Amino acid sequence: MKIELNNNKVFFNIDQIQKEIHPIWLRERVRDEEFLDKNNDQRLFDPSFIDNITIINAKINNDMLELTFGDGVTSKFDINKLKSEFLDSENFSNTAKIMFWDSSLKNNPTYKFKEKFYESREMYNLLKSFYEYGYVILKNVPTKNNYIVDFANSIGSIRPTNFGEFFNVRSVPDPNDLAYTSLALSPHTDNPYRKPVPCIQLLHCIENEVSGGFSTLVDGFKVATHMKEHNPKYFEILTKTKVKFKFIDKDVVLENKGELIELDEKNNLKQIRFNTRLDYVPLLEKNQLDIYYKARKEISKLYNSEKFRIKFKLMPGDIMMVDNHRLLHGRTAYDTNEGKRFLQGCYIDHDSSEGKLRHLKRKFNL
Ligand SMILES: [Fe+2]
Repeated sequence: MKIELNNNKVFFNIDQIQKEIHPIWLRERVRDEEFLDKNNDQRLFDPSFIDNITIINAKINNDMLELTFGDGVTSKFDINKLKSEFLDSENFSNTAKIMFWDSSLKNNPTYKFKEKFYESREMYNLLKSFYEYGYVILKNVPTKNNYIVDFANSIGSIRPTNFGEFFNVRSVPDPNDLAYTSLALSPHTDNPYRKPVPCIQLLHCIENEVSGGFSTLVDGFKVATHMKEHNPKYFEILTKTKVKFKFIDKDVVLENKGELIELDEKNNLKQIRFNTRLDYVPLLEKNQLDIYYKARKEISKLYNSEKFRIKFKLMPGDIMMVDNHRLLHGRTAYDTNEGKRFLQGCYIDHDSSEGKLRHLKRKFNL
């Protein structure tokens, strides 16, 4: 990709196709002192008032583009920065290579907690792995005084819910959620009834004395890709049907809608929802529902199959960080008579982890 000039017009040239860059697009990127607050990178002018601006002088000097605009403003632009914006290289798919996985995955992406971890290069590596695999495990994290809250707030900001700032996962009498029993939990995504759906679940193992209670994970994007290849009709209906999810207890009624497989505007996988204890499909035509129910059954079978599910035991001090928009999680049953099993959990949003990753990338010049 190249930046080219012709008659005081600026062009970008990709694969021999030359397109003019709008002068306002360049003018609003002027970074000189009087136009941009260096402390926060916010504009000191309002570009929405600019109209019909022209470029009256343009030249390229090494990697710098020098422009004088019709309003008298002269500024220099780093061509490499302009290029990275064209190529959208700030996008995470370029920072972390997303790897879909199934049960053939050999090792969990695992890191070790240490002093000053949050500002370290290892933290950068951890977040990068998180975007690649959709989960990471961090070992040796302090287990006292609800440390999960400090952990979450050191990446970004904790996302409180009606379960509180964090929740304790152990078996209790009369639970308001099956998580608080010793029953097996089949692979699911958390809280699809919230608006917005929590992005990342953090689970911190405080005690685990039982022989069961293994954690399970499934890469929902891998399963969705498998379904798209093997059963496009099922894939289609799961990407087109908005399902309602509901949570009810004595204090609140939460509802949200979404597809079991949500795609973005470019038809890439965006978000997985799966929680068959809480889902209510709309009353579609019977033949449509017929396909929908077959598709849900099929994807449930895939999510629960040994082919896609990994299983491991969390040890005291381990924090598991799971992308709740991509992965499904669950656990095997355990026997409360064998001892204690106690985990603490909370949610953070993707802007926390993405913001931290960008910050560390900038800090270490990566
Ligand atoms: Fe859960």
